[in-house]
Amino acid sequence: MILQRLNHVAFAVPDLEVACAVYRLQLEAQLSDVVHQEAHGVSTVFIELANTKIELMQPLGSQSPLRSFLAKNPLGGIHHVCYEVENIFAARDHLIRQGARLLGHGEPQKGAQGKWVLFLHPKDFCGALLELEER
Ligand code: CO
Repeated sequence: MILQRLNHVAFAVPDLEVACAVYRLQLEAQLSDVVHQEAHGVSTVFIELANTKIELMQPLGSQSPLRSFLAKNPLGGIHHVCYEVENIFAARDHLIRQGARLLGHGEPQKGAQGKWVLFLHPKDFCGALLELEER
């Protein structure tokens, strides 16, 4: 069994400040500080819930991969879900053997939470972008 807990659901938003205000004021959520991830082209905020987390992401820089998503979804929208895995390298090797496509170079990278992450191609996973994160 590769999949473990749901780690987070991520929303792409056009304006992180507005999104944070909605979650803080209307939904009374506790927000993390903003993290600017130059390598991934995103600025992110996390919200801790009892059973999972929410990630709010805004494009960072003109080459951000979020720009095309927001061009199609100008109000923002669900961008990916993140599942935890025990061992990301073992999961990666298994998925490659199964013929799955990985985004980027297929090498795990350090993600927003400082853990190893990988993204799987939506075309191979029922139309949804999946992130795997080592526990
Ligand atoms: Co994520």
